[in-house]
Amino acid sequence: MWLFGETVLDAVLRAGEYVPHMCSDPGFMTNDSCCRLCMVQVTLDGRTSVVSACSAISDEDMEIVTSTPEIEKARETVLQMIYAEANSSRSVLELMDRCGIKPDERIPIKEGRDCILCRRCRNACNYWIHGALDSMGRGVHREINVPYGTASEECLGCGSCALACPLDSIEHEDKSGIRSIWYKEFPLLYCSECGKQLTTEDNFKDAYYKDAPVLCNECSEEYRKKNRKDNDLYCD
Ligand code: SF4
Ligand code: FES
Repeated sequence: MWLFGETVLDAVLRAGEYVPHMCSDPGFMTNDSCCRLCMVQVTLDGRTSVVSACSAISDEDMEIVTSTPEIEKARETVLQMIYAEANSSRSVLELMDRCGIKPDERIPIKEGRDCILCRRCRNACNYWIHGALDSMGRGVHREINVPYGTASEECLGCGSCALACPLDSIEHEDKSGIRSIWYKEFPLLYCSECGKQLTTEDNFKDAYYKDAPVLCNECSEEYRKKNRKDNDLYCD
């Protein structure tokens, strides 16, 4: 079955086939299509081309080939270059293993944080309108960071960047009621009913109105039912 507007990657994965991909995930809110791992060959209206599956939109009449000798060779090179950017990332190592690709020792390994500059972290931050992260530096020194690599007022410690990173490479820690991330420490907030960890105090203040009840989704649902007035138009 073909779904209107679906990307080639989503269509292929939905059909139970596999195409290696890293900077894009089905359902992820924004995608810069920059790793080039997901190349596939498509034929439509008699024309054949190689496209990145996560950005190309599928068509009912499209023929998709996920593996050719040229595509496999290109993928090998791309993955070896990704390895050089992020050689301690478990997801990169697992992907190399799955694709049967070995590192190319001629490609120099980059120092510093594992990062393929996919910008998913920045996009997640922008999605929540915090805008705390961006690309800094040039050339081989380019990196994603908060401005000047120091504590930023824009960062509220929500952690959406760390969740979005496909390499799990954004350092963060939740310990003794404090979240440490991007050179800052944020007090954490817990559900006032069940004690479940919610988010940071700063992020909660930014997202909710003053004196909003501090509740997790489940307790919030209970609270809403208890406080519902007879003439409120809620659906149960
Ligand atoms: S830190 Fe992670 S999410 Fe951000 S650009 Fe690098 S690899 Fe992508
Ligand atoms: S997964 Fe498609 S370009 Fe990265």
